[in-house]
Amino acid sequence: MKPFTSMQSTSKPQHVKRLLQADRLFGMTSVPTPSVLRMPAGGGATVAGGSSKGASIGAVSVESKRMQLDVLDREHVKGCKKCRLCEGRTNTVFGDGDANARLMFIGEGPGFDEDKQGVPFVGRAGQLLNKMIAAMGLTREEVYICNIVKCRPPNNRDPAADEVIACTPYLHEQVRIVEPEVIVALGSPASKLLLDTQTSIGRLRGQFHDYHYTNLSGEVSSISLMPTYHPAYLLRSPHEKKKTWDDLQMVMKLMGLPLPQR
Ligand code: URA
Repeated sequence: MKPFTSMQSTSKPQHVKRLLQADRLFGMTSVPTPSVLRMPAGGGATVAGGSSKGASIGAVSVESKRMQLDVLDREHVKGCKKCRLCEGRTNTVFGDGDANARLMFIGEGPGFDEDKQGVPFVGRAGQLLNKMIAAMGLTREEVYICNIVKCRPPNNRDPAADEVIACTPYLHEQVRIVEPEVIVALGSPASKLLLDTQTSIGRLRGQFHDYHYTNLSGEVSSISLMPTYHPAYLLRSPHEKKKTWDDLQMVMKLMGLPLPQR
């Protein structure tokens, strides 16, 4: 039975479904105990603090964020020729999701499917990322997803240093505009780039770090960043899924999202 595709039952409360989904996705085999089947006080699972930020943050409205992202994409990224990756691309892959998201996922770069569709994380790794997001009680539309580089490296090779340097200003601008509460860096390249470190992903993950940036008011500020394993790596090494789920639960806690109850 494929995880997340056959949860047909409508009789289980939402929080129980989520727990079962998380167990299957992250390779845990626990059978739900009766306490799991109890509704949390106050009824079904709700997203504490809301799933997206308010209609406006200070002077920056959601509409303004959407427009800024749109301008960055249309006027800068779509026609970008700053590095050789433009030569082989079908589409640039800018970003996807809520311009005002509380949570941002950052991967490495588009693969075959992303290049064809112009949307990040739509291939196999993307399917797994969608399930990870659902296990957190969120939808893809409620978060923001993007990559370090916006064009597909040939044969899915790692982006070269000069390609990353050329493309990174777009990513920093996306973070400045969306200004999420938390960033999840997917995999080693995104984690090392955003934290400006050579420390391995195995040592970085499992704790929050500070991503420093200059906000739209020109002040130096920081965003909590959780490095974790890339979904493509998890497809090859499913035994690491449990660690990723631990990381994501730390993110949920920080954001005030309800954890699936055991
Ligand atoms: N891997 C990534 O890092 N990004 C994508 O968009 C797809 C796969």
